[in-house]
Amino acid sequence: MKKFNVALVGVGVVGAEIVKILRERNFPIREMKILATRARTEKIGDHQYEIEPAKIESFQDIDIAFFAGTEGAKGASRQFGWQAVEKGAIVIDNGDDYRLDSRVPLVIPEVNPHHLKEHPGFVSSPNCSTIQLVMALAPLHQRAKIKRVIVSSYQSVSGTGRAAIDELQSQTRAIVEGKEVLREVYPHQIALNLFPEIGSLTDEFPGYYGEEVKTVKETRKILDEPHLAISATCVRVPVIFAHSEAVNVQFEEKLSPREAREILNSSPGIKVIDQPEKSLYPTPVEVARKDDVYVGRIREDSSIPNCLNLWIVGDNIRKGAALNTVQIAEEMIKQGLIS
Ligand SMILES: NC(=O)c1ccc[n+]([C@@H]2O[C@H](COP(=O)([O-])OP(=O)(O)OC[C@H]3O[C@@H](n4cnc5c(N)ncnc54)[C@H](OP(=O)(O)O)[C@@H]3O)[C@@H](O)[C@H]2O)c1
Repeated sequence: MKKFNVALVGVGVVGAEIVKILRERNFPIREMKILATRARTEKIGDHQYEIEPAKIESFQDIDIAFFAGTEGAKGASRQFGWQAVEKGAIVIDNGDDYRLDSRVPLVIPEVNPHHLKEHPGFVSSPNCSTIQLVMALAPLHQRAKIKRVIVSSYQSVSGTGRAAIDELQSQTRAIVEGKEVLREVYPHQIALNLFPEIGSLTDEFPGYYGEEVKTVKETRKILDEPHLAISATCVRVPVIFAHSEAVNVQFEEKLSPREAREILNSSPGIKVIDQPEKSLYPTPVEVARKDDVYVGRIREDSSIPNCLNLWIVGDNIRKGAALNTVQIAEEMIKQGLIS
């Protein structure tokens, strides 16, 4: 099998997980460079890696560049993404800088692998909370056509990156030890608390924070449903890994909870745990570090016709970011789009 020269940009929570997943899945690597803002040696899993400062020359002779750097003007994707494409690399980006760019496919390989055919050398991986939502919605949409979605998310702090995991841990220690609780990353204390604010307020959707807007727009793009009725409230909770979502879905046609369970159980990348009488449903602690998206509490909402409630839990760092990114590369190799 052909092997590829790979670059990874960013070695925070997502980047480090990409390194582990590439090894676990025996990704066909000839050589790998790891790039970040500054040079150092870093231990990831059992291995020590040399980290180089990212420069445009770093992308010379690179076949596949996984981007897991910070978003925004000073972030890696805006600084180097398209220049890496010009140098011949296929860029697969975790950040939100180009997800809604009409040139760029936004891909979950189990859902819309056909979107990869039109790639301009740059592909985006969706937002973590969108990936797990759409993984569960897509097979149900195929069977009964979705009319409207209302999602409330309960999102872990690893979604904000390494600094936020440290903040939850240090605040929890401070509370237990009776010390002052210090805040740097979040606008509120996160230990023993939660708050309905993820991202920045937007002018386009007054009153909604960025994560809520991403959920709406990215879901529509991935499902090829530009007018899908969907509304989101995203909440940060004191959980380290895995996001949870309470989802209310109205369909055009009748879909029983039993049929929804069967459809989801036979869909790739999804597992159903749904025995409420035994208190069996997915929770973040059990789903953390797993690759599948888990669905439970599948039940009818009898307040309107053709409506179900679902509870969806997925590891935001695995399927919500690093795994999906690596799967995009695997799918592109399978389709002969990277050679
Ligand atoms: N965490 C999640 O659940 C999640 C899910 C989906 C998508 N994402 C996206 O994935 C990306 C990475 O997230 P994360 O949580 O891993 O962040 P993180 O823990 O804050 O790590 C960011 C990494 O990016 C590097 N970096 C930042 N600016 C750079 C630049 N200009 N050039 C090169 N490297 C740069 C940093 O380098 P240093 O180490 O040298 O500082 C660091 O290694 C973000 O775009 C995020 O929005 C995250």
